[in-house]
Amino acid sequence: MTHSASLSALDLLRRWDAQQTAYIKYRDQRFDVMANAIKHRCGDAPRVLDLACGPGSTSMAILDRLPGAQIVAVDKDPILLAIARQIFDDRTNVDIRDTDLDTIDWLESLEGNFNAVVSSTALHWLSPDALSRLYFALAERVVEGGLFLNADHLHYDEVSQPEFRELAQQDDESNQSEAHSAGTDTWAQWWDVAQSHPDFAHLAKERELIWEGKAPPPKVTLGYHLETLRSAGFRQTGTIWQYLDDYVVCAIR
Ligand SMILES: C[S@@+](CC[C@H](N)C(=O)[O-])C[C@H]1O[C@@H](n2cnc3c(N)ncnc32)[C@H](O)[C@@H]1O
Repeated sequence: MTHSASLSALDLLRRWDAQQTAYIKYRDQRFDVMANAIKHRCGDAPRVLDLACGPGSTSMAILDRLPGAQIVAVDKDPILLAIARQIFDDRTNVDIRDTDLDTIDWLESLEGNFNAVVSSTALHWLSPDALSRLYFALAERVVEGGLFLNADHLHYDEVSQPEFRELAQQDDESNQSEAHSAGTDTWAQWWDVAQSHPDFAHLAKERELIWEGKAPPPKVTLGYHLETLRSAGFRQTGTIWQYLDDYVVCAIR
């Protein structure tokens, strides 16, 4: 394995992208669909909020396709935030903020509204009530005609769709096994590299405390997302991309 000290933050992002793609087969297609939807509806210089940005994959994918975008990217993981800050250090159009999405107070500290709000593989970390609070708060901050786009695994229902669920699980397992036997990092391996990197190792304890005892909340259905967004005030809701149980949910304000 490469010694982590020789890796730049951008190298870590590239490895993160490969690591995540082992769990999400067509991850880059999701970014394409999201960026194209933003371009079509919001033009070449949209103001975008990236929720739970991690090391910055979604923001980077949007900037690659829409270099004129103004991005506010938020997350609460100190190591992922530090990596993202290094990567986007020289970009004046990216503002990275330490934010806990379990609350909505942070939205008040941001001025102005957004043309689009995006998220990828993250909102399943929020409890149903936190998600609902977030959707209602976001509806007040997305401009008329603007977009909310969420790419995430929304698992098939255990009781009513057990065989769909099995299909998705099998596909996921074979994608992971192919990627990992080809040498792609697992989640744990990527974190070993990031946490031993001299620029980020000092944040490992802080990170441990932030995530300590945090169990994944109950999963909500695709229907929950669509109904809640609709109730919050988004005019049209639906999906604009799907592969098995992996979706891009879209809502138009
Ligand atoms: C699997 S990563 C996805 C990161 C990035 N969006 C991507 O697609 O590569 C999940 C992200 O959700 C963030 N996250 C989870 N719960 C959060 C919360 N309550 N507030 C802020 N960020 C959160 C984690 O720190 C992590 O960066």
